[in-house]
Amino acid sequence: MWMTLQQEYSPTTATAANKILVVDFGGQYAQLIARRVRECRVYAEILPYQEATPEAVAGYGCGGLIFTGGPASVYAEDAPRCAPELLKLGIPVLGICYGAQLLAYLLGGTVGSAGASSEYGRTEVTMERSPLFSGLPAKSVCWMSHTDYVMQAPEGFVITAYTDKCPAAALEKEEERLYAVQFHPEVTHTEYGRKILENFLYRICGLTADWQMEDFVARSLETYRESLAGSKVLLALSGGVDSSVAALLLHKAIGQDLTCVFVDHGLLRKGEGDLVEQTFRGTFGVNLIRVNAQERFLNRLAGVSDPESKRRIIGEEFIRVFEDIAGELSGIHVLAQGTIYPDVIESGKGASATIKSHHNVGGLPSVMTFDRIVEPLRDLFKDEVREAGRHLGLPPELLYRQPFPGPGLAVRVAGEVTAEKLTLLREADAVFREEVDDLPRGKRPAQYFAVLLPVKSVGVMGDERTYGYTIALRAVSTEDFMTAGVTRLPYDVLEKASTRIVNEVRGISRVLYDVTSKPPATVEWE
Ligand code: XMP
Repeated sequence: MWMTLQQEYSPTTATAANKILVVDFGGQYAQLIARRVRECRVYAEILPYQEATPEAVAGYGCGGLIFTGGPASVYAEDAPRCAPELLKLGIPVLGICYGAQLLAYLLGGTVGSAGASSEYGRTEVTMERSPLFSGLPAKSVCWMSHTDYVMQAPEGFVITAYTDKCPAAALEKEEERLYAVQFHPEVTHTEYGRKILENFLYRICGLTADWQMEDFVARSLETYRESLAGSKVLLALSGGVDSSVAALLLHKAIGQDLTCVFVDHGLLRKGEGDLVEQTFRGTFGVNLIRVNAQERFLNRLAGVSDPESKRRIIGEEFIRVFEDIAGELSGIHVLAQGTIYPDVIESGKGASATIKSHHNVGGLPSVMTFDRIVEPLRDLFKDEVREAGRHLGLPPELLYRQPFPGPGLAVRVAGEVTAEKLTLLREADAVFREEVDDLPRGKRPAQYFAVLLPVKSVGVMGDERTYGYTIALRAVSTEDFMTAGVTRLPYDVLEKASTRIVNEVRGISRVLYDVTSKPPATVEWE
């Protein structure tokens, strides 16, 4: 399910019509548009076009609609379309790329293939007077990516921007507050993209910048204090950003009625289990159960080297451990989860090829029964979760943690996992992270870690011959983890990390740097 229009417990629904609905026509644009709108401090949600009926949209009560881009052509038989009545609700609309073509098409304009005039990338655009372009210079750079374009504007529309190759880069019918742009204001390559979105939100829709994490936190605390009064709640805490922020928020709302279960599967990084325990139980006084299940997991992983089998076993065992604990606790009828908005959107995208099965605590409710599930962060993007965590006082070590896979170090020990290999990897990884952490925060990669390879090679230390495992260092730069480039770490950092690892971690005799981007490789090795 992508989203529920009326969420029972969502504190965000309280903000009435001061919000935007992003109607998703496919492609990869919807999330970015919604994030950009929220960066302008206006709340935005995404709705797939199939669900965007005029009734649903009118009932939702938003102050503006944005139609996203998408890969289709409006004339294709199975092109994603919405009812033309959506444009007659009196709600301002901004169509972007495919969304612009669709808007023109639905109102009687003509769309055609630009053929040799297709535009991709940075393009100079000339803009005329328009509320959408208020405060902008006549010429600027925009980002284009299209093969079709609007050839003839619908009746009553005026063209307000053009490029060398695209005669209708923007069109509008001001009195009906319908706007369309062929270029992408949501990407940073469009010089004045942010200003164009702001003009749409504030000037055209008349919305106010009221989406603040501080208010969200305050409203959430109030909502959960009331709606969870008298209930006992269980939360699986992994120590990752999402479950940590969810835990802290609920702890502040309901105190000891929240029980957090932290399963230490023995696949965590050095010092991590203790950090989670100290922070939550020690600093915040959270009612925390730490389950030391290292042996259970290692026993189940013995002799298994296939990556998918390892992931599956860890996922299953996690559920069993959690069930065992939950069985020992009585009177808990509510399960809380750290689901965030991209999880909600992505879980609704239907069957996409399984590249890797992700076993996170998100899989729990299918096997357990609770009267109710609460997901306090289900409306938030990752940066917003961090901001909420900052307002709640979560320490920076947890707030700015790198992403860490649910199956933990098991997917960073290539092949069979053993206690010995895990110890070596943990030490080597800690050294590498320490060295990279000496770089200023802005220069650090998005993710950096060590991987243990089951390849042994010969080395020499002093007069002694050594024969130990290999460590691969991985550091990637990325915004969304869907694609990632190799970070060009300073050579000194790599050299120092390598020397320290071989000297300090007995059992490692060689260190390599992984220079493969994603795609074709994935970030994790398994
Ligand atoms: P891949 O390896 O798929 O990783 O390129 C992309 C991002 O996802 C993280 N990752 C996971 N995160 N559970 C998670 O929560 C998992 O099972 C999992 N596997 C990979 C990976 O660390 C990277 O940030």
